[in-house]
Formats: sequence, structure tokens, C-alpha cells
Amino acid sequence: MPGATQPLDRLGRPLHDLRVSVIETCNFRCPYCMPDGLTPEESTLDRARRLDFDEIETAVRAFARLGVSKLRLTGGEPLLRKGLPLLVRRLAAIPGIDDLALTTNGSLLAGQAQALREAGLHRLTISLDSLDPAQFRALSGGRGDLADVMAGIAAAEAAGFASLKINCVVQRGVNEDQALALVERFRGTPHVPRFIEYMDVGNCNGWRREGVVPSAELRDRISARWPLRPLVPTYRGEVAARYGHADGAGEVGFVSSVSAPFCGDCHRARLSADGQVYTCLFAARGQPLRAQIAQGELALAGHLAQLWRQRGDRYSEQRAETSPDRRKIEMFYIGG
Ligand code: GTP
Ligand code: 5AD
Ligand code: SF4
Ligand code: SF4
Repeated sequence: MPGATQPLDRLGRPLHDLRVSVIETCNFRCPYCMPDGLTPEESTLDRARRLDFDEIETAVRAFARLGVSKLRLTGGEPLLRKGLPLLVRRLAAIPGIDDLALTTNGSLLAGQAQALREAGLHRLTISLDSLDPAQFRALSGGRGDLADVMAGIAAAEAAGFASLKINCVVQRGVNEDQALALVERFRGTPHVPRFIEYMDVGNCNGWRREGVVPSAELRDRISARWPLRPLVPTYRGEVAARYGHADGAGEVGFVSSVSAPFCGDCHRARLSADGQVYTCLFAARGQPLRAQIAQGELALAGHLAQLWRQRGDRYSEQRAETSPDRRKIEMFYIGG
């Protein structure tokens, strides 16, 4: 955005991406994110403290002044937030925001894809951990139906989302075999399956390093069946490493936060549904913003610039030296 101050953090990183969580709950209970019984029930989640659409718009305008051009809406499950297309329309119109995307579990997408597209959403990412209906249900904590997600994908295609990203969190001994199944399913389509290393987000998912399948191993397994070649990143600091099928039948991606941290190029801030800003996915706590949001876009931008200049986060690079008991914000509060 012309004329804006663009702060650098303590490690010289600018602020380019913002992930906004619009709701802190979910209709699934994926064991790696929101394990059933170990996280608060919806009734105890603080619905009343959610930012309203005016507040979210003010916050995004302030971030855009500081250099954010890439915006992603997340949850919990963002499609549970009432009136979401109205918010999308307002955010898509903000000067400087030239990429507006959303990450969803897809279960409610069939009914909303068209409205989201018409509201101006550019891109969609859909989580899909298994193509086996029984395993899918288990991996959603017993709450999800694979058929709903597949209907969501079809509706997104029909609504004009040309290329979808399909996220699969891979766990050793659980759904490793789904990597080949997903590649096979989406080969020859414009959609991009992406395999995410199981991460130690939050404190309640019981993460163990042995549960991680390193991306290099998975990539070799896929490549043995369908040869892959590396592609250049779409943007500096892209989270997923891109690979193309050597025969031209499309693309796959790998998010390797555990085996190959990418903190050096991390230009992301996160805003939780209750109005706290987090400078790392693994932060212990956020900085409350609601009072500054009330002061308006300009004052908020000044405050955020100050916060960003103090940022020194690089958790994934420090994982090995960090105590597993250290407090970390839960994934469903900040949407990954
Ligand atoms: P695009 O590149 O814009 O398509 O989005 P994305 O891949 O960043 O978004 P998505 O919501 O699909 O995230 C993919 C995975 O990467 C999720 O598991 C996120 O939690 C993870 N992720 C995204 N950003 C970061 C990050 O800054 N650090 C870490 N460690 N993981 C991240
Ligand atoms: N490790 C890796 N990815 C995770 N996600 C949620 N929890 C974890 C975890 N522990 C993924 C979701 C979604 C994305 C936003 O983050 O599956 O695709
Ligand atoms: Fe819900 Fe996504 Fe977390 Fe699963 S990973 S519980 S779908 S927010
Ligand atoms: Fe960015 Fe933190 Fe992820 Fe590193 S661990 S890439 S600093 S969000």
C-alpha cells in the first residue's frame, strides 16, 4: 500500500500475511487439534468476546497499512460463523488485500461455496485426512462425514474455485497410506493435495515426534510411483514446498514445519476470534487488540508496527531446545 510504514521484526522479517480466525470452535474434534473431551465445549468458549465484522475490518485495514496483502480466514471452522460471506465481501474490498483465502474442513461448504465465491473469496483450502469413510470419521473425532466434504469440493468447483488446496495432516501408522490415495485421486485435476507434518501445536494433542512422517520420506514414496520434480515457490516464504508431476498431471505440496522449519521467511501474523494478535503459531499468548481497534485504523496500525518490531519468534527452529511443557496456544484458537 503506497505511503504505509512497513515494519521489520527483530530478525529483519516484514509482515505480509495475516490469518484471521473468525470463530474458536468447530463441528469436528480432530485428535491432533481439538481432541474430544480435552478441549472446552462450545458452551464454555467465549462467544460473546468474538470480534464483530466492523472490528475485524478495522483490524485488517490496519494490517494492510503495514504491508499485509495476503489474508486467510480460519477458525476453528470458519463456516460456522454466521454471515461469513458478508465479512468476505467487506475484506475483499480493502485496498492492498490482493489475495483472500479460507481454510475449512469442508463439511458445510456445499451450502456456502457459491455465496463465498460471489462475495469475492479468491481461494479455498479444504482439510481432508482420509478418503476412507470410516477412517475419515475417526480422524474427525467421530463427527465428520466424508460425503459432505466431497460434496463441498464439488460445490467449490461448480462455484468457480479453479484450483483447490487439499490439506492432509499425516500421522505415522495412522493415515500414511492416504498420501498415495490422495495423490491418485487428485492427479489430473487442477487441485493440489498437500501433506502436512503432524505438529506439536498447543498442549493437548499428545504430540510425539515418532508420530511425524518426514516430508522427504513421503515425497520419495510418492515419487517412486509418480515421479515428482521440484517447482519454484509461488511467493517468498511459501509454507508448502511445491512439486509437480513429471508427466504434467498436476502438483502436490509438503508442509515440513518439523523436519525443515521455515521460520527464516515467516511473514505471518495471526488474529484470534477474540481479538488477540499472535506473532507465532506456537506463541504462549497473544496481545489483546480490542481496545486499540476501538481507536481506529491509524492508531491500531501504529500499535501493531510497534509489536511487530519486537517480534523474535522462530519456534520451529528452536523446537529441540524447548520444553514440551511450555504453554502454547491451541490450534483451534488461531486456525493453524
Ligand atoms: P497458502 O500458501 O496461502 O495457500 O496457505 P497456507 O499453506 O499457509 O495455509 P493453510 O491454512 O493451508 O496451512 C497449511 C498448514 O501449514 C497448516 O497446518 C498450518 O498450520 C501450517 N502453517 C501455516 N503457516 C504456518 C507457520 O507460519 N508456521 C508453521 N509452523 N506452520 C504453518
Ligand atoms: N499439525 C499439523 N497440522 C494441523 N492442522 C491442525 N492441527 C494440526 C497439527 N497438530 C491443520 C488442519 C488444517 C490446517 C489449518 O491445519 O488440518 O488443514
Ligand atoms: Fe476443526 Fe480443523 Fe481443528 Fe479439525 S483441524 S478440529 S476441522 S479446526
Ligand atoms: Fe512462523 Fe512461528 Fe511457524 Fe516459525 S514456528 S514459521 S515463526 S509461525
